[in-house]
Amino acid sequence: MLNKTIAIIGAGNMGTALIRGILNAKLTSAKRIYASGTRIEKLERLSAEFGINVTTNNKDAAKHADIIILCIKASVIRSVLVEMHKVLHKGQLVISIAAGVTTGSMEKIIGKNVPVIRCMPNIASTVGLGSTAIAFGKHVHAAQHDSAIKIFEAVGDVVVVGEQHLDAVTGLSGSGPAYIYMVIEALIDGGVKMGLPRDISTKLAIQTVLGSAKLVKESNVHPAILRDQVTTPGGTTINAIHELESHGLRSMLIDAVATATIRSRELSELINKH
Ligand SMILES: NC(=O)c1ccc[n+]([C@@H]2O[C@H](COP(=O)([O-])OP(=O)(O)OC[C@H]3O[C@@H](n4cnc5c(N)ncnc54)[C@H](OP(=O)(O)O)[C@@H]3O)[C@@H](O)[C@H]2O)c1
Repeated sequence: MLNKTIAIIGAGNMGTALIRGILNAKLTSAKRIYASGTRIEKLERLSAEFGINVTTNNKDAAKHADIIILCIKASVIRSVLVEMHKVLHKGQLVISIAAGVTTGSMEKIIGKNVPVIRCMPNIASTVGLGSTAIAFGKHVHAAQHDSAIKIFEAVGDVVVVGEQHLDAVTGLSGSGPAYIYMVIEALIDGGVKMGLPRDISTKLAIQTVLGSAKLVKESNVHPAILRDQVTTPGGTTINAIHELESHGLRSMLIDAVATATIRSRELSELINKH
């Protein structure tokens, strides 16, 4: 239990995932959560579902809060921080999940030594299996580290990194779900090509990815060793692995993470220019 008042600024996909996670983990009560957004009908639906307070006024949400979580697009971070500026104070903690906006930029916009944390979660947070990397700004206290970690552990796994690593995190786990969706889609088509009904192929492909990931995680065995364990000499799997190697599967994925990281750096430089 954190027992803090939490404001979710921007109750979209990620904001809603955090509200659900915070309540499921019983970190605070529904009446201590304030969610803001631009559309009152959408907010009222959230209020009916979770019993939380809602408002279209970001300042009203923030003024009640110990912890303010910015779940809005990077393009509106500046204007929303300026809008809330009057009510923000150094006894609060501001957490942003907006891609690319640095703690330095936010500290500069807010001023007043308000503690700021920057996170990079991913879409799997919406089903409680997210991967979130957290980087702390310069005014953050140890107790606030713990609060941020607890909040994001409510929607999955958490790692703490230096802020310079957040672009690589974006390239790996931030964009990563899209790479895995492509893998799942291709496995389904592979099954269909070889005559499996699509629904059966889909079920098998999804469970294969889910089960393989769970086994790596729970066994703590290196994936290369797990792969060797299922590779019979002269068998089906080694023939498939040879095919994947000749098409450069591993190089392709390494390059995908590198390219996304470089793009994240470029976008971050543009966002923080002013
Ligand atoms: N989705 C992901 O996989 C993911 C992963 C990592 C990080 N992120 C970051 O998380 C942030 C939110 O992403 P999302 O996927 O949750 O987007 P989203 O579903 O579009 O949610 C953004 C929310 O912000 C609201 N909003 C827009 N302008 C606002 C304002 N001025 N004041 C208050 N609320 C405002 C929107 O309300 P309306 O819909 O009513 O306009 C919407 O509900 C982004 O910065 C994104 O980079 C997302």
